[in-house]
Amino acid sequence: MVPPSAVASPDAATAAIGTPDAPAIKDPVKDTILTPRFYTTDFEAMAAMDLRPNEQELEAICEEFRKDYNRHHFVRNDEFEGAADKLDPDTRRVFIEFLEQSCTSEFSGFLLYKELSRRIKDKNPLLAECFAHMARDEARHAGFLNKAMSDFGLQLDLGFLTASKAYTFFKPAYIFYATYLSEKIGYWRYIAIFRHLEKNPDSKIFPIFNFFENWCQDENRHGDFFDALMKAQPSTVRGFKARLWCRFFLLAVFATMYVRDVARKEFYEALGLDARDYDKYVIAKTNETSARVFPVVLNVDHPKFYTRLERLVRNNTELSKADESNAAAPIKAIRKLPYWIANATEMAKLFLMSPIRSEDFQPAVR
Ligand SMILES: [Fe+2]
Ligand SMILES: [Fe+2]
Repeated sequence: MVPPSAVASPDAATAAIGTPDAPAIKDPVKDTILTPRFYTTDFEAMAAMDLRPNEQELEAICEEFRKDYNRHHFVRNDEFEGAADKLDPDTRRVFIEFLEQSCTSEFSGFLLYKELSRRIKDKNPLLAECFAHMARDEARHAGFLNKAMSDFGLQLDLGFLTASKAYTFFKPAYIFYATYLSEKIGYWRYIAIFRHLEKNPDSKIFPIFNFFENWCQDENRHGDFFDALMKAQPSTVRGFKARLWCRFFLLAVFATMYVRDVARKEFYEALGLDARDYDKYVIAKTNETSARVFPVVLNVDHPKFYTRLERLVRNNTELSKADESNAAAPIKAIRKLPYWIANATEMAKLFLMSPIRSEDFQPAVR
């Protein structure tokens, strides 16, 4: 095994230092606003949560988790043999990035759910059991992705990541908004790729995509769990403050994904997808789904919505350019300042756009 420091740079890391039999440990990418985060929360408050307002639904969801539909799903087959060697160097680079980012997100879910289940086990057994089942699923997802990385002679050191990443503290309500959205957006992302590749099998660059259909059902169930949990804590999805926070989290999640995906549009091109069209579809679907539980959702059809997101994309390109230059840190900061200000202004304008009341959007399911 190679220690993380032995891999000199991300470029060197992607140049397949290891082999599938002896994968090199890949340096985690530098944390930015666009990389997946690790979360922690107020475990006491979670343990004390009264589930009675929606206990039946939560019990039914837990029963679904117990069935463990995907117990035998994540088993690698012969198709993986030699599949990594068929990718050209550019596709290989963007695909490894995709695997790493996805593995980190899945693993982040695993850590949070595992810790929650452990810390609230005695005081809130139903909630703890649900979190334990979800941690099981996310561990499988992360493990499967990490195994795919080893096909490229690389592996993420998940133990090192656990110890070295910064953890963001969110109070329980914010954890609900953020994880609900990441589960539902994960569902739409995976299913959109799966359906596209079903119709365009020539673009299936790696066999891992065959697993996405059942995989995304796990994410969908996880999202439904948080939907039920928010309904058990009605104050999280009712009232003025809840409306503001739901808008904030929807915007933060959509804007981050859009900027990040456009910046690595080559990955989507390799699958025969246009990153912008793909993201617009995923955003529209996640927004529509969120109206089942959030009191408001965003007006993503407003003509200004994507104009402003495109400005964020342009600012982000300039910020990356400044980062890559050889200038001294203070000079870099001065060069970046106008783009930070421009980003903050665009985000404020996006946030202030009139939302849509969910009861007008999803009257049938609410
Ligand atoms: Fe997952
Ligand atoms: Fe999940």
